[in-house]
Amino acid sequence: MKRLKAFRNFDQILTLEGSYKKDGRKVQPEDMSILHKASVVCSENEVLWVGLEKDFPQEYEKTAEHSYFKGKALTPEIVDSHTHLIFGGNRADEYSMRLNGADYQEIAKAGGGILNTMKGTQALSSEELFNISVDRINRIHSYGVGTIEIKSGYGLEYSKEMELTKVIDKLKKHFYPKIQIKNTYMAAHAVPKDYTSSKEFMSSVVIPLLEELSDKNIIDAVDIFHEQNYFDSKDTKLLFEKAKALGIDRKSHADEFFDNKGAILACKYDALSTDHLLRTEQDGIEALAQSSTVATLLPGTGFFLGKPQANARRFLDQGVKVAIASDYNPGSCHCDNVILVASLAAPAYKMNMAELWSSITLNSAHALGLKNQGAIVQGLKPRFTIFNVSNINSITYNWGRQLSSGTITTEV
Ligand code: NIG
Ligand code: FE
Repeated sequence: MKRLKAFRNFDQILTLEGSYKKDGRKVQPEDMSILHKASVVCSENEVLWVGLEKDFPQEYEKTAEHSYFKGKALTPEIVDSHTHLIFGGNRADEYSMRLNGADYQEIAKAGGGILNTMKGTQALSSEELFNISVDRINRIHSYGVGTIEIKSGYGLEYSKEMELTKVIDKLKKHFYPKIQIKNTYMAAHAVPKDYTSSKEFMSSVVIPLLEELSDKNIIDAVDIFHEQNYFDSKDTKLLFEKAKALGIDRKSHADEFFDNKGAILACKYDALSTDHLLRTEQDGIEALAQSSTVATLLPGTGFFLGKPQANARRFLDQGVKVAIASDYNPGSCHCDNVILVASLAAPAYKMNMAELWSSITLNSAHALGLKNQGAIVQGLKPRFTIFNVSNINSITYNWGRQLSSGTITTEV
């Protein structure tokens, strides 16, 4: 079998080369860098050539295996950089309670919320959790998503959290390279009722388990719900210090209900991303603009909870690297389709098309530390999404329609 692969004659290729050169910041519509009637050649590890079909290099005619895609469009692989997809049970009743007048935080105080899903998750075996997750991942992949981050955090007990992290590791091995999974450790998701404080839970579960899992080398990043009534800045610092010392990347849920200066703290610890950011004030936006930390906005959560949206324009105009992710989880956003979420959010966020596309490809890859993908540019990893459209603009125009015919990777 030939080692090189040529994917030829797409009606359009969205390369995002302009956006890539600007590190995904302050991008303009022309930074989409769309090629018409174009092709791409890849080795196992990288893009070797991308350009117009009429300029296809002679040298690859014989050395590559060719496939043809007339009538289709190619984009950088779609990345969903924030999901909580490993959970048991559902919270349909809480959704209805909210529509009937209850509030997310009130429901949580009354024993609903994350602790409700903890019970549903603890009731399932490792095998059941694996099987449910396989189905969920396959469904997400059917939308055209090729890289998915999965957070633990509904075990909330030493052995169950360990189990969840191991199941994510098993999923990662099961799906690679077709789907790339990132394993984020988020035992610091909520404090179970048997602990008197977040401090006690941090010192008896979150930190010791992190140390144990770090030895097994299966965690890609840590995350924490840095929010009033969950975990405070002292807990976040403790987790980040420990993760940094162990060489593990950092992420946080911050400034969602209040501006607790979580974005600033994440930047101080060179976090890969800090997420939600509905309440982040000017000082947080400035810190983000000056850092490599990605601001991941989760508009699905605002829609699902009926809360206001982040002021995305303020982040974008000041040069923050902005990603959009689904936040797929059973409580605050039971929607697993990041393309739908971004399509809905872009007009509300007043994003241009290059900002929209960068937010679910290049910038969301960076939010997972994947600096070598997210654009179709020579030297980057060969990870793409194919759409059954001849015009890139049709993809987000058709809200919620499934237009992908799969992802492509030549990685082995
Ligand atoms: O990102 N904020 C913390 N975690 C989820 C909500 C989880 C839940 O309600 O079950 C989120 O919104
Ligand atoms: Fe989340």
